[in-house]
Amino acid sequence: MPNLEVQHTEDGSATLFVPELDEHYHSVKGAYTESLHIYRDCAYLYAAERTTNRPLRLLEIGFGTGLNAVVTAMVATNERPVEYITLEKYPVEPQLICKLGYDNFVDASLFSAIHAATWEQPIAIKPCFTIEKRCCDLTDTALPENIDIVYFDAFAPEKQPEMWSSEIFTRIYHAMRQGGVLTTYCAKGAIRRLLQSTGFSVERLAGPIGGKREILRATKI
Ligand SMILES: C[S@@+](CC[C@H](N)C(=O)[O-])C[C@H]1O[C@@H](n2cnc3c(N)ncnc32)[C@H](O)[C@@H]1O
Repeated sequence: MPNLEVQHTEDGSATLFVPELDEHYHSVKGAYTESLHIYRDCAYLYAAERTTNRPLRLLEIGFGTGLNAVVTAMVATNERPVEYITLEKYPVEPQLICKLGYDNFVDASLFSAIHAATWEQPIAIKPCFTIEKRCCDLTDTALPENIDIVYFDAFAPEKQPEMWSSEIFTRIYHAMRQGGVLTTYCAKGAIRRLLQSTGFSVERLAGPIGGKREILRATKI
């Protein structure tokens, strides 16, 4: 992604802005707040409460700044270990990651270990959290199997419609375990109906405090 700019969001945390797309990496109402609520709480912690005795396999669409990854790593425990697989077509330059100032919000050593992790192989960041960063294009890559949790954090449908297609959601659905959950910040009716027609049971949940009114959580039934 060329010409990325660091901008501040309303909860004080930064995000990246893509001028060519007129699009942000996170909600302008609060990047950190969005990451905690939509992904960590409504997907990972929700799924972890319902699953015992085995690692949770998590697929993130769009590694971006690594914010979703680090907030998840911070709460992973031996009782709910995580295998985190994240796809990213355009890795962000390390110099830009430093300018975000996320060390003021998250565990700085975990954040730095996540960014230092070699791509294309699972790396243990702590005993209960491994990350595999895959540099690839979601639209033409094979997905990992037996996924329990999906963080669907692509750019908005009107900016990148190819990421929100029936074909993509069908592939994700087949990559997931029964009972697996997907969350996304996008609560548009068209996306909700697309998820339903793929076979998911879809809930509208309250959005982050100060942010969007609703978000979506889809469960593979
Ligand atoms: C909304 S941002 C994700 C923010 C990220 N989850 C975070 O915590 O910073 C969308 C991400 O999807 C990535 N992306 C765009 N097109 C992609 C594609 N075809 N395949 C994989 N990743 C893609 C972008 O480079 C960007 O990092």
